[in-house]
Amino acid sequence: MTLVDDAVLVVDFGAQYARLIARRVRENHVYSEIVPATITAAEVAARKPRGLILSGGPKSVYEQPAPSLDPAIYDLGVPILGICYGAQLLALQLGGTVTRTGRGEYGRTRLSTTAPSPLFADWPAESEVWMSHADCVTEVPRGFVATASSAEAPVAAFHDPDRCLFGVQFHPEVVHTERGADLLEHFLHDVCGAPAGWTHVSIIESQVAAVRAQVGGDRVLCALSGGVDSAVAAALVHKAVGDQLTCVFVDTGLMRAGEAEQVDETFRRQFHIDLLTVKAADRFFAALAGVTDPEKKRKVVGALFIRIFEEVARDLGAGGEGPRFLVQGTLYPDVIESGTSAAANIKSHHNVGGLPDDLAFELVEPLRLLFKDEVRAVGEELGLPAEIVWRQPFPGPGLAVRIVGEVTPERAEILRAADAVVVEEVRKAGLYRQLWQSFAVLPAVRTVGVMGDDRTYAYPVVIRAVTSDDAMTADWARLPYDLVERIASRIINEVDGVNRVALDVTSKPPGTIEWE
Ligand code: XMP
Repeated sequence: MTLVDDAVLVVDFGAQYARLIARRVRENHVYSEIVPATITAAEVAARKPRGLILSGGPKSVYEQPAPSLDPAIYDLGVPILGICYGAQLLALQLGGTVTRTGRGEYGRTRLSTTAPSPLFADWPAESEVWMSHADCVTEVPRGFVATASSAEAPVAAFHDPDRCLFGVQFHPEVVHTERGADLLEHFLHDVCGAPAGWTHVSIIESQVAAVRAQVGGDRVLCALSGGVDSAVAAALVHKAVGDQLTCVFVDTGLMRAGEAEQVDETFRRQFHIDLLTVKAADRFFAALAGVTDPEKKRKVVGALFIRIFEEVARDLGAGGEGPRFLVQGTLYPDVIESGTSAAANIKSHHNVGGLPDDLAFELVEPLRLLFKDEVRAVGEELGLPAEIVWRQPFPGPGLAVRIVGEVTPERAEILRAADAVVVEEVRKAGLYRQLWQSFAVLPAVRTVGVMGDDRTYAYPVVIRAVTSDDAMTADWARLPYDLVERIASRIINEVDGVNRVALDVTSKPPGTIEWE
């Protein structure tokens, strides 16, 4: 038995809904996996899941074509919970009625429970739920009973307890549904009988075993970037195969303040990992000299990174007696996005993007089942320092995308010093973890200022801080004015070459998070 044998499968009728449900299941210490709606009954049976959750989705069951489900799945004896679209589909496919009432329900709604249900154990008669639907179930299929209603949904929940089939019109996965977490807990543990085996400790144990089985006695190479994913992947692989692992850290000269030292301190001194640091700042600045086009900058950094990594790998004898395996910090959302479980989906930036074919490595991806919050928890469990585990995202090409115009050693130093002030003050204000990113940007203009009795002509620095869930959209962070004030005066006083500080109040869209 492995951990993933006790899976609850989330059938995807709309990726964003499915992803949130899968995360909620895992918060209950049950392994969940997202599967496409095209999954067949035979495929489900082969997986022997503890249960199935049908996600919500943006379509109406009456739209053509609307995603459906192999009806033989309902006869497998596997407990099923349909949510929103999933509930309507379940009702329709089993002979119930779904009606377009013309009056939808969106947002917070009062729900009245009307009959006992194992999902509503200990619920009050009325509670608040989150709804988002136009259609609704108006007649339950034969053998089912309605268990809850709301103003616009006469059948807001229904079930056939003998067959362990459940439907809820509301969204238990969102925090606005008061008892949503309880409902999922009841479904997973009471109805499905899924054990709470998916813990950070068990994740580590199972991944360590998997890496050992894959790698055997061979050598493994890992490129560290300073970011959380590669760091956790490296620590996990090191726990599995010890000194068979060699890590490579390319110091591009475009890292944040203290990042290179931190990687060295953590991996060499604390974990005793065989770490090769390649000091390559001169090569990166030489290659970037005169380059101002943002896309060109990215290409220059990416190409040089690959060349350097290739040199290191060849020096280590890769392809011959050297490392046969390469660690990738691929996460579960990357796997979902790539659509197939087989796609390796090597990130195209920095993290060993597009290695040449003649450096054929087999990939080791110890994080490919994990969401970001699980990666962080595993990192903490493995003893990585909080500064690494909770570090905000940082673009692969580093400060090169935050320096508008030419990237020179001097300009990189100005930005690094200003950025360190932003990070330090945001941390001191206790806001670092709440913000998706908070950093400094160096524009390519200079402006006139006056300091002491002298006129200055120097760069402005822009403070960029955003909140976001996934970087697809972002809101500019309303930093307290006294914090902005402290950051601005410290940057002006401490960073030579800067005479002005501005605050970026643009959300995404229309802006992007980085300036490029
Ligand atoms: P934008 O600027 O497009 O950025 O709003 C969205 C998110 O992606 C990060 N980013 C990168 N991450 N390699 C990465 O690994 C890159 O080349 C890269 N460029 C942008 C950015 O920091 C933000 O979180």
